Amino acid sequence: MKDFFSVLEQRHTTRNYRPDSIDPELVERILRAAQSGPSAGGLQSYGIYRVAESLSRTKLADAADHQEFIAQAPVSLVFCADPEHCAARFGERGRFFAIQDATIAAAYAQLAATALGLSSAWVGRFEEDKVRAAAEIAAHLVPVAVITIGRGDAP
Ligand SMILES: Cc1cc2nc3c(=O)[nH]c(=O)nc-3n(C[C@H](O)[C@H](O)[C@H](O)COP(=O)(O)O)c2cc1C
Repeated sequence: MKDFFSVLEQRHTTRNYRPDSIDPELVERILRAAQSGPSAGGLQSYGIYRVAESLSRTKLADAADHQEFIAQAPVSLVFCADPEHCAARFGERGRFFAIQDATIAAAYAQLAATALGLSSAWVGRFEEDKVRAAAEIAAHLVPVAVITIGRGDAP
């Protein structure tokens, strides 16, 4: 396990992945790390969707302006805000909190991937509706970030 500040120094965007699959236990650890972050009212107003199947990866890449490295990555996690959930407690401001909750979770996931010796990229350039379709995301959730995860040329 790496020292926290080494993780910060070593995290960088990787857009070239080896085809090797990722141990599901590592993905579970990343998901647990993502969910360990702060959230407004402790509500965790976000959803995380895992995309690993080949056709879904291709659809996800197409949804993101055909950024082909997304299809190459063995796993992507799609972080989605749940604005209604948070607004029910905090009103209109809660919609903004939900975006922040999802963003924090994505950032934690990316750092966890680095700590586990994996490579990643944050992807924000995408069409929300197409991402929903690619990852079978519930209609009321708002995709905020896609984190591609895999083993790169320089993890
Ligand atoms: C909100 C946001 C959106 C981003 N969208 C994309 C994207 O769509 N495609 C991509 O290749 N990189 C994307 N990136 C990654 C940035 O390009 C990258 O973090 C930046 O160039 C700094 O490089 P580093 O991550 O290696 O430090 C995004 C990063 C953020 C924070």
